Amino acid sequence: MSFDRSIKIAPSILSADFANFGAEIEAVEAQGADWIHVDVMDGHFVPNLTFGPPLCAAIRKHINTVMDVHLMISPVDPYIQAFADAGADVLTAHLEAGPHIHRTLQAIRGAGCKAGLALNPGTGVEDIDYLLNMVDLICVMTVNPGFGGQKFIHSQIDKVKKLRAMIGDRPIHIEIDGGITPETAPLMAAAGADVLVAGSAVFKGGSVQNPAPYGENIRAIKASVAS
Ligand code: DX5
Ligand code: ZN
Repeated sequence: MSFDRSIKIAPSILSADFANFGAEIEAVEAQGADWIHVDVMDGHFVPNLTFGPPLCAAIRKHINTVMDVHLMISPVDPYIQAFADAGADVLTAHLEAGPHIHRTLQAIRGAGCKAGLALNPGTGVEDIDYLLNMVDLICVMTVNPGFGGQKFIHSQIDKVKKLRAMIGDRPIHIEIDGGITPETAPLMAAAGADVLVAGSAVFKGGSVQNPAPYGENIRAIKASVAS
């Protein structure tokens, strides 16, 4: 996985057909997805349940690009090895998921994955100074985690600007997750983000049988950022 700051669209399979993940992933990649974002929820850290390591292992062979696994679970540490074994390229844990995020990030890199740190909308960037040298990605949540299709929280623009300044020349991706559309994407790209997760805005109007809308939706987000 090489590092650059070009804009990357990461469709979240939370908005795909759950009965057809393999074909959905292949369709959305063929339509221009840069990364595939996989939302793992435990019904405890967030009020929703999705799937775990076996599902990640099963879909891995359908993903040619980066498998970006977003862990909305607590505790995290007992499951890191299983998600690494399932083939995650990036493994992102929440700062809010437990008292020992430093240990968690060490364990993620120790398992051979890129380490991601996610911040809920209510979390500031003040406490992450001592984590910057141990992360490859910071995920700024622009909705409260748990569900797709929620409204973008504008106060996070300022957070991304602060984060971008803190990161400086370090090779750390800034990922935005939640409510990304052609209207909100340019705000985040201008603030310094490079990975844009989008679920509903990518999958709307399309299907495995009719994948062209996925491509149109991805290009609409990319065009909004370029203009
Ligand atoms: C929310 C998830 C997001 C979500 C984004 O908890 O982490 O990845 O699927 O969905 P949209 O783009 O619909 O807000
Ligand atoms: Zn996510």
